[in-house]
Amino acid sequence: HLVASMEVEETYIMVKPDGVQRGLVGELISRFEKKGFKLTGLKLFQCPKELAEEHYKDLKARPFFPKLINYITSGPVVCMAWEGVGVVASARKLIGSTDPLQAEPGTIRGDLAVQTGRNVVHGSDSPENGKREIALWFKEGEICQWTPAQAPWLR
Ligand code: PPS
Repeated sequence: HLVASMEVEETYIMVKPDGVQRGLVGELISRFEKKGFKLTGLKLFQCPKELAEEHYKDLKARPFFPKLINYITSGPVVCMAWEGVGVVASARKLIGSTDPLQAEPGTIRGDLAVQTGRNVVHGSDSPENGKREIALWFKEGEICQWTPAQAPWLR
């Protein structure tokens, strides 16, 4: 649907195992909440290898693929679905560059990470992938549609 003629999108955000181990879950959720996006799905989850491979299937040919799969399955992740106007690109901006050493201060990776292979968080790179990834990581019934009461900035 449209808000002020701008497209409401959904994106899949995931706190990777290093973010969970380092106790950054609350900090990361807080950044997206404070920005004004709406949380529609949230769970702690131990990802099976097959799901990690499906999620990152476009990277299968990359030399780092096996390491990436080991990393993502090395401990629980926090799966989140967020909704809002322009949320896909905006979440990527909040997250910062893939290489945390290139990420700007103020971004999640710029503030909290050093290594590409331990970059704390994932965010969908397009609205299409947002939908695909939410469908991949969440079951029907795990996504909650709700309307914030009298808070038009929370869309
Ligand atoms: S690319 O080259 O543009 O397709 O890749 P990029 O978008 O930068 O990264 C795709 C995802 O792969 C992760 N990545 C890595 N993981 C481990 N080790 C290395 N060297 C590495 N390089 C890239 C990167 O974090 C992206 O994952 P997500 O979960 O989307 O951040």
